Amino acid sequence: MTEKENKMEKIVSLCKRRGFIFQGSEIYGGLAGIFDYGPLGVELRHNIKQYFWQKFITEREDVYGMGAAILMPAKVWEASGHLELFTDPLVECKICHERVRADQPEAIGDHEKIHKNDKKKVEWTEPITFNLLVGSKLGASEKTATQVYLRGEITQGVHVNFKNVMDSMHPKIPFGLGQIGKAFRNEITPRDFLFRQREFEQMELQYYIRPDEKEGMKQYEYWKQFAFDWYLGLGFKKENLRLRQHAMDERAHYAKDAWDIEYNTPFAGWKEAWGIHHRADWDLRRHSEYSKVDMSYFDETTKEKFIPWDIECSGGVDRAFLFVLLEAYTEDELGGEVRSYLKLTPKLAPVKLAVFPLLKNKPQLIEKAREIYKIIKKEFGSVEFDDNGNIGKRYRRQDEIGTPFCVTVDFDTLEKGEGVTVRDRDTGKQERVSEKDLVSFLREKIS
Ligand code: GAP
Repeated sequence: MTEKENKMEKIVSLCKRRGFIFQGSEIYGGLAGIFDYGPLGVELRHNIKQYFWQKFITEREDVYGMGAAILMPAKVWEASGHLELFTDPLVECKICHERVRADQPEAIGDHEKIHKNDKKKVEWTEPITFNLLVGSKLGASEKTATQVYLRGEITQGVHVNFKNVMDSMHPKIPFGLGQIGKAFRNEITPRDFLFRQREFEQMELQYYIRPDEKEGMKQYEYWKQFAFDWYLGLGFKKENLRLRQHAMDERAHYAKDAWDIEYNTPFAGWKEAWGIHHRADWDLRRHSEYSKVDMSYFDETTKEKFIPWDIECSGGVDRAFLFVLLEAYTEDELGGEVRSYLKLTPKLAPVKLAVFPLLKNKPQLIEKAREIYKIIKKEFGSVEFDDNGNIGKRYRRQDEIGTPFCVTVDFDTLEKGEGVTVRDRDTGKQERVSEKDLVSFLREKIS
């Protein structure tokens, strides 16, 4: 195993050991491509989503939020083209009948290696197309039940509400609708931990513009850069991210143009993190045709009626989560000892601060530390109190989950009124801060 692949293994192990991620329904054997988020994972994930919501929606004047349902009737997916075209090529191994994606050389290679160990050479069937939508039936009787699909992309829940938003909010074009929510895909080969799952979360913006080539180009360039800058803000080094245009044969059926933000992963090189798609009028035009509801926009100033074009920003929350951890995972030597820590930006850290009494068996230290803990917990929310084990171990535990700062109450706090020590995760350096300045000092550090 190379050092880079090893990093992925370390992340997977850290995620389970420290309560970030668990295999879905693990005690029953688990489900491939399904994961549950534990106490620390859910916080980190929440912080990623919060950052998306802040930058793409609340800080802007031209974007509203949406929260559409997961279940949608088959007609929606017929109109969007997903029933016909949301497919992957599938091949079957003629030895064991396992099915693998034909366009994933890593998956093919991994499977062939299994049989190579038994000295068998794999023969594959011809590729067939396999639809990724996950279906279900709604209704109390088999006969009258309605065929529904769990949304394969969260996008359609926004487009089908275009008219509702127009009629209730009366936005002027250009404007956007942003959303975060679960999507479901029956991936043939879920793999690489959170990278390719069957249930995952997306954060998206559909930005509606005038149907005009020049305007389309301008908005498309703007949103490519906006999404890239947002992704950088998750704490990536610039050289580990890039924008790459899709070749014609890579583009989804709805895309007039498509670019990906890619991350240079340690497990497989450059991989898609986020997509920016020029969807033109594909979705609104098709929903107008299939639902017979007019999805056009009337411009009061020019008196023109048209079906708007859509520029889409679409990112995976779980994929961002995985890439953030891979980027943040760091090993170094501190005080003569090897340590691993997560160099997370404070806004994403699941625990912002930890408070310790220097020793466990001194009631005055504990009392004072608890007092300070209460004050900063009220202020910063996600704060831990820890008096277990020696202080060095407590620092290591917080380093491992990416807590940016640890506050320690010692004898100088009690006896000399010299304030507390604040330790920086990345350098291990401590500085003394007076009790009265502590909250403002920490606010400046972690905001
Ligand atoms: N609405 C457009 C859309 O869904 P996509 O490129 O299929 O486009 C957007 O998906 C993002 O969703 C991807 O860039 C990726 O971050 C995430 N994503 C897609 N499939 C995924 C999967 N199976 N597991 C985890 N994340 C996935």
